[in-house]
Amino acid sequence: MQQFHFPEGFLWGTATASYQIEGAAAEDGRGQSIWDRFSDIPGKTWRGQSGRVACDHYHRVDEDIDLMRSMGVDTYRFSIAWPRIQPDGSGPANPAGLDFYDRLVDKLVAAGIKPMPTLYHWDLPLTLENLGGWPVRDTAERFGEYAAIVASRLVDRVETWWTLNEPWCSAYLGYANGHHAPGRTEPGAALAAVHHLLLGHGLATQALRAAGAEQVSIVLNPSHCRGDEDAVQVVDGVANRIFFDPLLKGAYPEDVVANTRSHTDWGFVQDGDLETISQPIDLLGVNYYTPTWLRSKAGAPEIDVFPGSAGIEGWTPEELPVTDMGWPIDASGLFDLLVRIHKDYGVPVMVTENGAAYPTGPNEAGEVVDTERIEYLRSHIGAVHDAIGAGVDVRGYTAWSLMDNFEWAFGYDKRFGLVYVDYATQRRIPKASAKFYSDVIAANGLELD
Ligand code: FCB
Repeated sequence: MQQFHFPEGFLWGTATASYQIEGAAAEDGRGQSIWDRFSDIPGKTWRGQSGRVACDHYHRVDEDIDLMRSMGVDTYRFSIAWPRIQPDGSGPANPAGLDFYDRLVDKLVAAGIKPMPTLYHWDLPLTLENLGGWPVRDTAERFGEYAAIVASRLVDRVETWWTLNEPWCSAYLGYANGHHAPGRTEPGAALAAVHHLLLGHGLATQALRAAGAEQVSIVLNPSHCRGDEDAVQVVDGVANRIFFDPLLKGAYPEDVVANTRSHTDWGFVQDGDLETISQPIDLLGVNYYTPTWLRSKAGAPEIDVFPGSAGIEGWTPEELPVTDMGWPIDASGLFDLLVRIHKDYGVPVMVTENGAAYPTGPNEAGEVVDTERIEYLRSHIGAVHDAIGAGVDVRGYTAWSLMDNFEWAFGYDKRFGLVYVDYATQRRIPKASAKFYSDVIAANGLELD
């Protein structure tokens, strides 16, 4: 038995996102988001489900904060719904929307939990999509204005801010393969969306700093690629370096620009944009679930979420166990990813999402014994510890997710929570993994066999 202790001050938290938990979709002046419309299109989400009610968190904030308090978390990473703040994505703030997050922040602070908001976790105001969405530059400008509004209200109590969550998903799932809202399938537009998301991050970073924010960052979900070198080089480019390099080195990688020429001439990059995008950030948020396996295959068509990837195919090793998402479990991928980011970019990181879907529900005694999730968390938290041992500056870990919630296109079919949600009654039941996690937090570490 080995005992792992994390550095003093290491932050342990849980994470959620507005559209996945809040519900109250038509309350207090909230505008529609792209996910409201997408969920209403038959066939887009599992059984046509939506986040209209979700976990009803909007009305159950106190109970949900109590759950976190009893787990002993240091921090809570939640997201702010842009359509609650600006129902149409521009113009004056909706006071009721700001009040909701103001109260949430007050309550977190009172509970001794550090609030860490994400400004954008995929719920773009529908009006902005109708004007072109992330493929148009104006959306980035609007995002900067929205950031200024939120910052001016919360910056006195919020130290750490995340601008975007996983722009890879917003751009490629939203605009290349269309599995996420708004459901468009235009690879060229997806690449323009990448750029405007990054520009929006830069403009929001300026707004946050101007308002006095202490720590500003962005959350990425790098695909840790395994496989033959040529295939990895191409996909690592369009999935990872297309974000890392402009943010941390001030330039798009030349090979990515060359590989994607059939989709776009990159004319959307204007003078000064890369300076805006590459302003220093204080740390990088890294979300990790599973690696990506690739190999070269002559004649293979482009992988729909990786523009420029013709001649490459993805595959899944059969020997690894998978979660309910079908995602292979490989904690060494998290270690390798953190070491790689450290070596190539030297930026402090926080693991801002990590977790696993399993369907486990209450047994006859009413307990949810999710042993597989505990094993997943144990191995991945161990990998984070190993990365720290290898010299990576990891500042914290926020488990995905506090509770079961609306898993996007998979609806309520996939459960990622440490807390079980009975959607019929909205009753919350902490799972065995919540107990495991609170023990990890209390010990600031864990025991490994
Ligand atoms: C991430 C998302 C999060 C959740 C998890 C499972 O890509 O950021 O909202 O869906 O995956």
